Amino acid sequence: MSKVLQGESHTQDILHMNLDNDSSRKRNWGLLVTGIVGGTLVVLYAVATPFITPALRKICLPFVPATSTQIENVLKMLQYRSGSLVDLGSGDGRIVIAAAKEGFKAVGYELNPWLVWYSRYRAWREGMHHNAKFYISDLWKVSFSQYTNVVVFGVPQMMPQLEKKLEEELDHNARVVACRFPFPHWMPDHTTGEGIDVVWAYDSKAFKGNEKTLSETVQKMHPL
Ligand SMILES: C[S@@+](CC[C@H](N)C(=O)[O-])C[C@H]1O[C@@H](n2cnc3c(N)ncnc32)[C@H](O)[C@@H]1O
Repeated sequence: MSKVLQGESHTQDILHMNLDNDSSRKRNWGLLVTGIVGGTLVVLYAVATPFITPALRKICLPFVPATSTQIENVLKMLQYRSGSLVDLGSGDGRIVIAAAKEGFKAVGYELNPWLVWYSRYRAWREGMHHNAKFYISDLWKVSFSQYTNVVVFGVPQMMPQLEKKLEEELDHNARVVACRFPFPHWMPDHTTGEGIDVVWAYDSKAFKGNEKTLSETVQKMHPL
């Protein structure tokens, strides 16, 4: 009788152990699935946020890459030019890398770190990393005074403010190329392309000259 009872309790122990194993296996699976889902969400958030936040800024400048015709037009406007070049909001680096291939010491400033890392990788893959550099920076917080060639593919809302900034910072021998949207007050000396590929080129002598004429005019009106 006692042997029968002992046998029953042994069977019950085994049953309990099996149930415990089952539930701990389920708990482990649950933890693994939660980890995978949680990790995926964190990665998605980290990747997507830099692409979404520009839309929440006062001036919304989203990532829209230049077309290859647009790039050809930019380079056409910079024919016979050399030296340093900067792309304001360099995206995936295509304009900077194309300019580096033409012999420019090209630099891109870009707010989105993923795009900057990708641009660096592209430059390295194409053997252009010595002449194509990329920085994670807000274009409004950088001075462009050291650059003699400036490229921007902006949005209409930012052009008046950028016009003022470049007028103050650029030297007399600089050239500015605007893609798709022109500057509101400057007179371009050349323009090329059609539709979304149109670009405008401005010689800083023209807008720096305007500045001088304006101050001369003010002096003439109010002599000391
Ligand atoms: C219209 S895309 C042009 C990309 C590139 N220049 C091209 O033509 O392919 C504008 C880029 O500016 C970046 N951007 C937006 N606000 C910025 C800021 N304040 N400073 C630097 N880059 C900015 C965006 O992330 C985006 O990649």
